[in-house]
Amino acid sequence: MKILFVCLGNICRSPLAEAVFAEHVRQSGLEAKISVDSAGTAGYHAGERADPRTRACAARHALEITHRARAVAPADFETFDLLVAMDESNAADLRRRAPHAQARRKVRLMRDWDPSGPGEVPDPYYGGDADFDHVWHLCDRSSPRLLAEIQNQEGL
Ligand code: 4NP
Repeated sequence: MKILFVCLGNICRSPLAEAVFAEHVRQSGLEAKISVDSAGTAGYHAGERADPRTRACAARHALEITHRARAVAPADFETFDLLVAMDESNAADLRRRAPHAQARRKVRLMRDWDPSGPGEVPDPYYGGDADFDHVWHLCDRSSPRLLAEIQNQEGL
């Protein structure tokens, strides 16, 4: 099972979502069965490390991010089983680019699994540490139900 987390720049939200979800996978002992990656709908930051504020936020929550930013590629719609977008704009971009209906159905929103209800993971780029911590919190809160859905579907 391969999951791709997607935001706009792939330097703030999606690398953090990837790291948070990877930790939930690791704690469940499923790292051999579930792999994760992240990408951006835009390529402006391709090749860059995650934003320093993203890495500082990760460190506050005992996570490390070594990811290098990349843009979503057409092959991602085949490679990945699920493309998890952070906001409605990211999801709309992905659905527009999906090569066929089956690929379009792989696009979901991170907070579809939020037990407090659906919504967006807001862009923290123009915000501060509290906004990055809020992103961490939303991803951490949504990860267990995402993981449970995958475990149910895959019989893991
Ligand atoms: P992200 O945040 O989509 O969560 O990685 C952003 C990163 C960069 C920009 C916007 C949002 N930007 O405009 O460069």
